[in-house]
Amino acid sequence: MEELRHVAIIMDGNGRWAEKRGLRRSMGHREGSKTLEKLCLHIADKGISYLSVFAFSTENFKRSKEEVDFLMNLFIEMFCKKFKTLQDKGVKVIFSGRREPLRQDVLDSMDEIMKKTQHNTKLIFNICINYGGHSEIVDTTKKLCQKVVSGEMNIEDIDDESFKQHLYQDLPPIDLLIRTSGEYRISNFMLWQLSYSEFYFTDVLFPDFDEKEFDKAVTAYYQRDRKFGGVKS
Ligand code: IPE
Ligand code: IPE
Ligand code: MG
Repeated sequence: MEELRHVAIIMDGNGRWAEKRGLRRSMGHREGSKTLEKLCLHIADKGISYLSVFAFSTENFKRSKEEVDFLMNLFIEMFCKKFKTLQDKGVKVIFSGRREPLRQDVLDSMDEIMKKTQHNTKLIFNICINYGGHSEIVDTTKKLCQKVVSGEMNIEDIDDESFKQHLYQDLPPIDLLIRTSGEYRISNFMLWQLSYSEFYFTDVLFPDFDEKEFDKAVTAYYQRDRKFGGVKS
């Protein structure tokens, strides 16, 4: 069976988790952030090398100002204060997404945690903020075009490998995609990297998606038969 090297999670259902309890949606996001921290430590312990999570999509700016502000403040809190345990564990934090139009204080907190954790190697933790799969492909195409125009690259040099290297982050393909909360869609997440991923959907809402639930997804993954277009002998 293919080794599980890169796991991605669409962390969905925070709002419903809170609404079910008569709480404000923001309380679901807070609870989700605690779940994420625990999961990240657990995933590092399991020896998985890459974790990508969808924290905020380009489309999430359509939500109320109150909710967007809450999420942005939560990110700052997480990156500046809460993620100390990740540093101790040897987690390297990186980001994917467009910096524009994120607030400067959010960008500063992202830069800070990236810098602090840059030499860690245990787990590469890719956090997608203001991320869109279409935007990533468009931005990558622009980078490559600029290199061709400036003479740094030839058109013939553009292939799967060089395209991958110019994405927001140069990561291995996603082996397992998990989406919580019973929604069966990709919602514009890592379109390039998901081309041959195994998909695992669960009704569990993200704040309740604990280590045990994660292990169930891993077990399911190892029962899959990955063929990559070939025929099993
Ligand atoms: C996912 O939870 C977190 C973000 C999109 C930021 P939701 O906020 O989408 O939760 P539901 O889908 O409304 O329950
Ligand atoms: C996807 O969840 C984005 C994140 C988890 C950050 P959404 O809740 O925004 O997706 P849709 O709107 O249900 O497709
Ligand atoms: Mg949702």
